[in-house]
Amino acid sequence: MLAYLHIPFCDSKCHYCAFNSYDNKSSLKQNYMQRITEQLQFELEKFASQKKSISSLFIGGGTPSTIPASWYEPFFDIIKPYSQDDAEVTSEANPHSATHEWIAHMHALGVNRLSFGVQSFNEKKLTFLGRNHTPKIALQAIENAAKEGIENISLDLIYGTTLDTEILLQEDLRIASSLPINHISAYALTLEEETPFYTRKDVANGSEELARNFVKNIIESGFPQYEISNFGRYQSKHNKGYWEHQDYLGIGAGAVGFLHNRRFYPTKSIEAYTQNPLIQETELLSNEDLHIEKIFLGLRSVVGIPMEHFSVKEKERVNLLITEKKLIWHENRVFNNDYFLSDEIALFITQ
Ligand SMILES: C[S@@+](CC[C@H](N)C(=O)[O-])C[C@H]1O[C@@H](n2cnc3c(N)ncnc32)[C@H](O)[C@@H]1O
Ligand code: SF4
Repeated sequence: MLAYLHIPFCDSKCHYCAFNSYDNKSSLKQNYMQRITEQLQFELEKFASQKKSISSLFIGGGTPSTIPASWYEPFFDIIKPYSQDDAEVTSEANPHSATHEWIAHMHALGVNRLSFGVQSFNEKKLTFLGRNHTPKIALQAIENAAKEGIENISLDLIYGTTLDTEILLQEDLRIASSLPINHISAYALTLEEETPFYTRKDVANGSEELARNFVKNIIESGFPQYEISNFGRYQSKHNKGYWEHQDYLGIGAGAVGFLHNRRFYPTKSIEAYTQNPLIQETELLSNEDLHIEKIFLGLRSVVGIPMEHFSVKEKERVNLLITEKKLIWHENRVFNNDYFLSDEIALFITQ
């Protein structure tokens, strides 16, 4: 089982970001950090969690590093007995707020993986994206994490902006691969509703050639691809757990949970969440929903899909794609080797 904790606070809002996070609600932070412990207790009971049943905890956001590390202590005290000894414990962090002291304290609490929102090492591109850090600050944060002995370090890059050229992306990658990291998440810029970028015609470069070359170069720099946006010598247990359809606890405002055939949706509003962190909507998934989701998730990643998962009709189409070398068949599982086509292939199989 996996656990996800959402921190819906940021120091500033980036021009492209539609995540559930706010830069003007700092006064609610302390109350929020108390309420997450109440929801955690509630979820552990609902999921009938056993001791040592959590294989991965992911603290995401928003910006987890806007919260003092000591404020996480009550949460860790509760979750520790339920976590496996070798659990992956990841926190996202912004280079700007992840000080050496914050990193050291989170490490002492059990964080063994940090994922930094770097986006680029190009100063102009960072300003264009509305980031509040410089390339130098990002380099320093990663160096601090390595010095501190964080086992697994990842960084996020964004590509597909109008500033991107082959040379700019190659330079981002050259710098990234010179650092003590073992994982890169590379996201194509998407124009999300209700963000300053949404209506702008001059911010995105959707060139498929640029995207394909960038992905190829990331792989050649020593970061094997294991999902459409994820690359690494270390494959995150948490990411893979999602694609394998494992159950997950979702703690915090808007943090979705999943148990067997149900999804739970706590309120996205921080105000409402701090009033009552236990109110949530439940969605019941049909066998058909789960069946289709498994196909989409399996084709987006190295997880693949067991052959017996497919219906007779689907199997015919899968076999056709295997003959056309668009899918690979190995030890009775089916794998996709071109993640850019994964949704298209999934739609074809499940039509
Ligand atoms: C939830 S954010 C948290 C990371 C952290 N707050 C930070 O930004 O430093 C995770 C990542 O999603 C990516 N992201 C968010 N919005 C995006 C968008 N519209 N297009 C592409 N990538 C996006 C960014 O790379 C970001 O680092
Ligand atoms: S990208 Fe990260 S820092 Fe920027 S607004 Fe989104 S969550 Fe906050």
